[in-house]
Amino acid sequence: MSLPESPNISTANTDPSELDSKLGNDPKLKSKERDRLAKIRAQFDRAPYPRQALEAQPTPLNRYQHCLVTAYHRRYQKLIDTQGMRILDVGCGSGYGSLTLALANPGTTVVGVDLSPASIDLAQKRMDHYGFGDRSRFEVLSLENLDQLLPEKFDYINCDELLYLQPDPAVGLAAMKTVLADDGIIRTNLHNRLQRAYFFRAQELFHLMGLMDGNPGEMEVEVVRELFEALRNSTLLKKATWSSGKADIEEYFMMNYLFHGDRGFTVPEMLDCTERAELDWVSMVGWQSWCIEDLLRDPDDMPAFLAMGLSMASEGEKLHIHDLLASEHRLLDFWCGHPEANREFLGVEEWEPHHWQTARVALNPQINNEKFKAGLREAVTGFNDLQMRRFFNVIWGMETISGAIVIGLIPLLDGAKTFAELVDYWKKVCPIDSVSLAPTTTEQASAPLRYLLTELAKWGYVLPEQMD
Ligand SMILES: C[S@@+](CC[C@H](N)C(=O)[O-])C[C@H]1O[C@@H](n2cnc3c(N)ncnc32)[C@H](O)[C@@H]1O
Repeated sequence: MSLPESPNISTANTDPSELDSKLGNDPKLKSKERDRLAKIRAQFDRAPYPRQALEAQPTPLNRYQHCLVTAYHRRYQKLIDTQGMRILDVGCGSGYGSLTLALANPGTTVVGVDLSPASIDLAQKRMDHYGFGDRSRFEVLSLENLDQLLPEKFDYINCDELLYLQPDPAVGLAAMKTVLADDGIIRTNLHNRLQRAYFFRAQELFHLMGLMDGNPGEMEVEVVRELFEALRNSTLLKKATWSSGKADIEEYFMMNYLFHGDRGFTVPEMLDCTERAELDWVSMVGWQSWCIEDLLRDPDDMPAFLAMGLSMASEGEKLHIHDLLASEHRLLDFWCGHPEANREFLGVEEWEPHHWQTARVALNPQINNEKFKAGLREAVTGFNDLQMRRFFNVIWGMETISGAIVIGLIPLLDGAKTFAELVDYWKKVCPIDSVSLAPTTTEQASAPLRYLLTELAKWGYVLPEQMD
């Protein structure tokens, strides 16, 4: 079944003044602000986003990005059980993200809100279609009016592809903070000004041509298509933004060339917004893909001046340097939370052997699936390297885990284990040192495990925690 072209709007019977207050059409709002929200709502009522068919299943990467266990581990270095947790999806659109959140986090309930009644209608249909109807609720409500949900509070707030539409994202973040539980986490993102520079140029052009005076539709899309088809391929704006494969995808035009309210931000601006909202910035969601060393031809031969600069740079400065050099992320996608929440811990890469003695480790639940289990067993029995990309097709991450040590992961397939349990298992399967033929010592079993787990933890494949 595909999504209907003209969805029925389920809010038809709602009292108009009540709807107005939920949508941010409150007469107290300045008329410019009312206009802005009305334009955005009209755009998404006409074309709810994303235009994914009901059958479209979230990809493993989508699920990984929406997995609360990863987010909580980044923030608290603790393993959590998602059972009973409450998730809010702000600007849920047609509900593809809400569905991903429900699938990636068993036992949670999802509340979705959006400015666009047509989008809300589709989001509810999508969740009903997958049998999540009784564990989800959708409401027409604007980000600006989230406090109407109080006293309800949420353990996790997802706000994907919306914040950059706000005149001041700090105000939007502060609105989310009002309904965030004490140790809750917000995942949100801003368009990256550097990466999207050419699209902002295109939007300026189409403003100038009057295509964005009203609510862009088929006619405006056609004008843009004709223009790009008429341009030489070497014309900069065409070279930088156009591909013939996109020519028939209306959503591509709407979300890039003709997007009302779209704005870009830099890393320092992202950090500034978080600070002004009195929130604690935690981490980029795809932190694995923000490594400056990965931009170098030979990371072991870093120019001395850069190495010296990086040794003194803050985490935010390193992200900004990465962005200035590579500008490869469309989104500045990040987690943040209340500043008072305690998150003092030593990063796993800095753990000494004694930290491992008191550690427990789990595989990331998004990786520990049937395909991975079969692949790991096959690698172990065949003495082969484990090809991680077969299970996790993302642009970053380890390509392979050596067949010599991958066996250390086997006990984790059926749940979290203490480091001591992993060492015991290693000693059982490798009882004798292959060079001296003496019995394997605890340290001989621990060293390769520490290496394996530290490397995998960098990518979020395994999640180590200190036991209380
Ligand atoms: C680009 S779509 C993103 C949809 C969804 N989060 C996703 O990433 O798949 C932006 C959504 O935010 C909604 N939106 C925009 N401004 C809003 C506001 N101030 N309050 C609530 N929803 C808003 C739009 O109606 C639209 O559905």
